[in-house]
This record gives sequence, C-alpha cells and structure tokens, in this order.
Amino acid sequence: MTSFDGWDPDQYNRFAQLREQPFWDLVQLIKGGTRPSVVDLGCGDGRLSSQLSKHLGAASMLGVDRSPAMIGAAREYANERVTFTLGDIAAFEEPGSFDVVFANASMQWVPDHAGVLARWANSLGDAGQLAVQVPANADHPAHVLASEVAQELLDDPPRDVVDENVLAPERYAQILDDLGFDEQHVRLQVYAHQLASTADVVEWVKGTTLNRFKESLGVAGWEHFVDLYRTRLLAELGEHSPFFYPFKRILMWARRRS
Ligand SMILES: C[S@@+](CC[C@H](N)C(=O)[O-])C[C@H]1O[C@@H](n2cnc3c(N)ncnc32)[C@H](O)[C@@H]1O
Repeated sequence: MTSFDGWDPDQYNRFAQLREQPFWDLVQLIKGGTRPSVVDLGCGDGRLSSQLSKHLGAASMLGVDRSPAMIGAAREYANERVTFTLGDIAAFEEPGSFDVVFANASMQWVPDHAGVLARWANSLGDAGQLAVQVPANADHPAHVLASEVAQELLDDPPRDVVDENVLAPERYAQILDDLGFDEQHVRLQVYAHQLASTADVVEWVKGTTLNRFKESLGVAGWEHFVDLYRTRLLAELGEHSPFFYPFKRILMWARRRS
C-alpha cells in the first residue's frame, strides 16, 4: 500500500536482503552484555527491531518512528518486551534510559547531527552503547539526478536534507570524542550491490530517498516525477543487466567507560 506520508513498507522491503547487510554489520559492533534495554530510532516497520531485540536478548526494545504507515506495520512485531511509538528522532532524548541507542539508516533524515548525537548519547546509561549507520552516497547519479529533477518540477523543492545532513566519517569520530566516548569505531564501507538491471535503481530509491519529494508532488505529480527521473537515470547510467550499484555507508559505534 502506498502512503502519502512518504513511507511505504512494501516498497522499502523490495530490497530487504540487500538493505539488511549494513544492519547486521552495525549489530556486530555492539558488545554483548546482560539483557540490555534498547531503543531503535527510526525503526521503520519494526521487523529489524524485532530481530535486534532477539539477537541482543533485550530486556526491552522501544521502536520510534514518525511514519504512521511504518508504525502501523510494526505493530505486528509488538509483544510484552517490544513496543513501538510515533515520535521524532531529531528531538529524542530520555536521559540515562537505555543500554543501547541504535539507529539504522534513519539519522540521515534529520539535520544537526552533532546536536542529535548529543541527545542520543545523553539517553544512554552508564557504559551504554551508541550504534548508528547512515548512507553516504549523495554523490551517486541516483541521488544527484533526483535533486535535479525535483528542482525542475517543484516551485519550492524541499531542501535536499538527506544529502546535506550526512557528515564526513572523521567528523563523526570527532563528535563522538567530544561527547566523551572512550571507545569508538567509525568506518566508511562500500556495499557492492548487484541489481537485476539499471531500472532497479529507480525501485531502490523510490523506497527511500525519493520519499522526501512525495508530499510536495501529490499523486499525479509523483508519477510524472518518477517517469522523468527514470528516463534521465537510464540515459546517464545506460541500460545494463545486471547493474552494479556501489553504495557507501558510514557505520559508527561508541561506548563510554562507566
Ligand atoms: C530507511 S528507513 C530505515 C528503517 C529501519 N531502521 C531499517 O533499518 O529498516 C528510515 C526510517 O526513518 C524514519 N524517519 C525519518 N525521519 C524521522 C524522524 N524525524 N523521526 C522519526 N523517524 C524518522 C522513516 O519514517 C523511516 O521509517
């Protein structure tokens, strides 16, 4: 079902297997311990929150997302230990409440990462762990062309926040150090996706980055936007089958000694 709050769980999950690898790579950075209390910020449809909860043996898991469509889908995974709520991760701060603050592929949607990470770090208890993954692929034609087509079609295109928000890996390392984390791991990783064809790139970005234009375009405008975007993208990248889609991501983990 397509939702005009932007997010469509079915479209997002078309590439679930490929999208999952960075999630598990991020999970691997978290040190084991006794049944942690966990918050998953920008939890999406809750499927991965549920897996994270099981993997860590979490005493509690709170998933937070601002999309009613995603939180609606997440209810399927709710139980006595796993709960979901609508909320804005940009402002999220619950001092000293969690052992793990986790955010996979969501922080890129909000500005001021120094401020956001400070609030999230403040939500950790003693020896709590922060684990965050953001895409860093703004220079790929798939992203560049999306902004160009939006500039052409919209009188007042929304600021290209997703691409502007993400900082350089070394800047995240500095922020984590400034926040007093004694241990940290920050890395840029290239995920080498083999898609069935170039056109699949359109389906990929329709599930995520193009969502920021959806509300401004409306239903008819959205279809026209996607058609024009597809034409331009295929002209620029060529029609290949399979198509190699390299995707850069930044993974970061940090812990304070108690
Ligand atoms: C790319 S999805 C990632 C979902 C999930 N973490 C995963 O790994 O599958 C990004 C999610 O961030 C959510 N999101 C974006 N901005 C948000 C905000 N300001 N507050 C809460 N959620 C937000 C979207 O609604 C979407 O569900």
